[in-house]
Amino acid sequence: MRKSRYPGVYLHNGDYYTPSQDAQPVYGEKMLKIRGKIYRRWDPMRSKLSAAMHLGLENFHFKESKVLYLGAATGTTVSHVSDIATLVWAVEISPISMESLVTLAEKRKNIIPILNDARKTEEFSIFVESPHVIYQDISQRDQVDIFLSNMLQFKASIGYLMLKTRTINIRKKPREILKETMAILQEYFSILEIIDLKRYQKDHYGIVVSQ
Ligand SMILES: C[S@@+](CC[C@H](N)C(=O)[O-])C[C@H]1O[C@@H](n2cnc3c(N)ncnc32)[C@H](O)[C@@H]1O
Repeated sequence: MRKSRYPGVYLHNGDYYTPSQDAQPVYGEKMLKIRGKIYRRWDPMRSKLSAAMHLGLENFHFKESKVLYLGAATGTTVSHVSDIATLVWAVEISPISMESLVTLAEKRKNIIPILNDARKTEEFSIFVESPHVIYQDISQRDQVDIFLSNMLQFKASIGYLMLKTRTINIRKKPREILKETMAILQEYFSILEIIDLKRYQKDHYGIVVSQ
């Protein structure tokens, strides 16, 4: 096990791992115990952030950051981010997913689960204080608007948008949706990086912006 190029993340036999305080896996991931320390394999097939790292992501701003995570689901990626970050506000709309997320947050004190629609920033902004980073993975038609409104409301310096092109418009080519999305984002932010995630997630792009 050695340090990877990503702060807080380790590399072992070509796989990324995060250090965990808990010996139990969160989603059935492989665990390793080396010299008394526990590490969890970060599965690129289950997490778009891990996929982006495997594809050479350049901008990684999670170590000791405060992260607003939109579309937390049951906490697969959230759990790895919580291994690295100081605090994670995890917003999820589904009450069923929220049950698992709450169980996870009971074990991990740096996760604050928020059951809400990520569109309704005015409802959950009272719980969120100055996030450095916004990470969004929401497959909704208006996912770009959701990202924009959260970035502008919370003034995070870095934003990660995991763009699912097919949900925006199934009839348009993914490249076309990407182009339209970039035209919108460029009006507000500097685009730091675009990663085509197709090796792991068909028709998805990872976009990193700063403001
Ligand atoms: C692709 S899954 C997220 C997977 C998760 N990011 C991970 O890597 O572990 C998308 C999630 O977004 C949630 N979602 C959809 N629309 C939402 C909204 N408007 N606000 C908050 N969450 C939403 C869904 O319920 C679903 O759990």
